[in-house]
Amino acid sequence: MTNKKRVLSGMRPTGPLHMGNYLGALANWIDIQDDCECFFFVADWHALTSNYEDPGDLENLVRQIIIDWLSSGIDPEKSTLFVQSKIPEHAELYLLLSMITPVPWLERNPTYKDQILQLQNKDLSTFGFLGYPVLQAADIIIYKANAVPVGVDQVPHVEITREIARRFNYFYGNVFPEPDAILTQTPKILGIDRRKMSKSYENAIFLSDGPEQLQKKVMQMVTDPQRMRRSDPGNPDVCNVFEFHKLYTDSSKNAQIDEDCRCAKIGCVDCKKIMAANLIQALAPMREKRDFYVHNQDTVNDIVEQGSQKARQIARQTMVQVRNAMNITY
Ligand code: TRP
Ligand code: SF4
Repeated sequence: MTNKKRVLSGMRPTGPLHMGNYLGALANWIDIQDDCECFFFVADWHALTSNYEDPGDLENLVRQIIIDWLSSGIDPEKSTLFVQSKIPEHAELYLLLSMITPVPWLERNPTYKDQILQLQNKDLSTFGFLGYPVLQAADIIIYKANAVPVGVDQVPHVEITREIARRFNYFYGNVFPEPDAILTQTPKILGIDRRKMSKSYENAIFLSDGPEQLQKKVMQMVTDPQRMRRSDPGNPDVCNVFEFHKLYTDSSKNAQIDEDCRCAKIGCVDCKKIMAANLIQALAPMREKRDFYVHNQDTVNDIVEQGSQKARQIARQTMVQVRNAMNITY
């Protein structure tokens, strides 16, 4: 046993991860691995809450996201990686928690209302979609996680988790800790068109993009919109290219670019070339790891298999306590 804090988080397998996902969540997972006992899982059942009509090739999506994690620095020696649907105990706890969860808690969940508005092309008037946070609560508390690193959009879900855990403990005795959300700072980087980076806007830089794609996307990036001509001075403070420089270019060189941009000494094309080269270089180790895992899919399967076994053991133990607490002990 360790007395490190236990951390758990998950992502839905909805496609390749982009730099926004990386800087917004994954980078935090990677940092936390040394100090905490970490569990990271693919929420494949959660993907079905809104994509139930066409699950797509879920198996492939699951593998893709695991490869994204592994290649960007999630270390299977340090963290336990698993897939939700391999641990049926989540479903059992979800069912039991559904007995004690008041429907109004779910109806007033801000992400619920928001998604129904946003995804009007989908019929989200399902039981499963309303129950999304109950399944998420089960995911978290079945491991008695103390902390959940997430983006700010997920805070309401962690809050509902705390309320459900509290209600369970009140009815049946103290089984679950109430987890804290660990907030990930949202990165300032935008998509190449200057809107929020998102797969659905087709403006994303993916972790799986190779050097040529990276170069091409950087060259397409919208810069300071006020800078029309090469001779116009620019403003790095409002330029998305410069946000990337801050992350991937030495600070001494950055200061020079900042200065040269403001007096039109450097043009956007040259500025982007420098940034693209640094970005490509920074992502090179990831690309190497990706190559390895893409060519060693058995290793990926083993990692998931072993992680799922380890997770399942813990989930099983918790379920024994839950059944005892609720007198379901035949
Ligand atoms: N709802 C999360 C998301 O969309 C995914 C998720 C499911 C999750 N279960 C979780 C995150 C448990 C943290 C903990 O990103
Ligand atoms: Fe942005 Fe660089 Fe162009 Fe300045 S020179 S506006 S920092 S791309």
